[in-house]
Amino acid sequence: MALSWARRHILSLADFQPAEYDAVLQTAASFQEVLSRRTKKVPALQGQVVANLFFEPSTRTRSSFELAAKRLSADTLNFAPSTSSLTKGETILDTAKTYLAMGTDIMVIRHREAGVPLAIAQEMDRLESRVGVFNAGDGQHEHPSQALLDLFTICLLLDPEKPRLSLLQGKKIAIVGDVLHSRVARSNIWSLTASGAEVHLAAPPTLLPKPFAEFVTADAQNLDRQLFLHWSLNPALEAADFVMTLRLQKERMMQHLLPSLREYHQQFGITHQRLKRCRPEVKVLHPGPVNRGVEISSELMDDPQFSLISQQVTSGVAVRMALLYLMGSGKV
Ligand code: NCD
Repeated sequence: MALSWARRHILSLADFQPAEYDAVLQTAASFQEVLSRRTKKVPALQGQVVANLFFEPSTRTRSSFELAAKRLSADTLNFAPSTSSLTKGETILDTAKTYLAMGTDIMVIRHREAGVPLAIAQEMDRLESRVGVFNAGDGQHEHPSQALLDLFTICLLLDPEKPRLSLLQGKKIAIVGDVLHSRVARSNIWSLTASGAEVHLAAPPTLLPKPFAEFVTADAQNLDRQLFLHWSLNPALEAADFVMTLRLQKERMMQHLLPSLREYHQQFGITHQRLKRCRPEVKVLHPGPVNRGVEISSELMDDPQFSLISQQVTSGVAVRMALLYLMGSGKV
């Protein structure tokens, strides 16, 4: 199958087409194979420069992008805002231009404000550079690589030989927790609804306001997206194939969106007991970092029969290799 790829930047999954998801899944599967070899490195991006510009803290996403770039033999630059010239008043666009002047090919950007990766991508295009910009999480907007690694983890489980989007057709996936503030949820909603899965969101009304779904129904593409909202847990869990839990962002307590963490756990926390409503072969995902005992019980998180959490982290490297490769080798 010929790979369908014509993107220079990856900023959002809103307009991703099924063939693009399949290109990512297929490429990630071949890199997964590379990662199982004794020599886990390929020369695909030799001589190219990947700059990780993380303006917000991150453990797994930053390390995973760095390792992915290194496995592709790219040279990597890591930027730490607290020790950078940002502290001397340099603007973010000027920081990006500095990295451009050093010959960077791909910029991986994380920022607490939505839209920063887009602004940098627009500036790079205006300057007629061929730099590709990757959104590694912007505010509450999107986190495409997380959703793509979640998709890969699920598809790999359903068919380890040939992970592909259509495997999710008719599956029921529950996304539970702080949906409102979650860029992970937004990107996953785009990818999972594009696959033909039924996506069920469950959260207290303060974390899932009714108009939340409007951004999906306003979608101009002709994909038949199935998204359902619930303000209690059971209808979302009923016969679910996958349950995706989200970090309860503790800072939300300060905004009085929740009475207490204990009460939240009682109503929406995922436990072995609660999973009995799901299909017997149900699996649980979490993007990390986890608040043990809040959104998911500690025992369930560590139970390999149900938890895909460490597979998600492992898949992350192969998926990010695929994404950097597709962006870097095509030079659209
Ligand atoms: C998430 C993020 O930073 O958006 N984590 C991640 O990248 N794996 C989720 C979160 O912070 O809750």
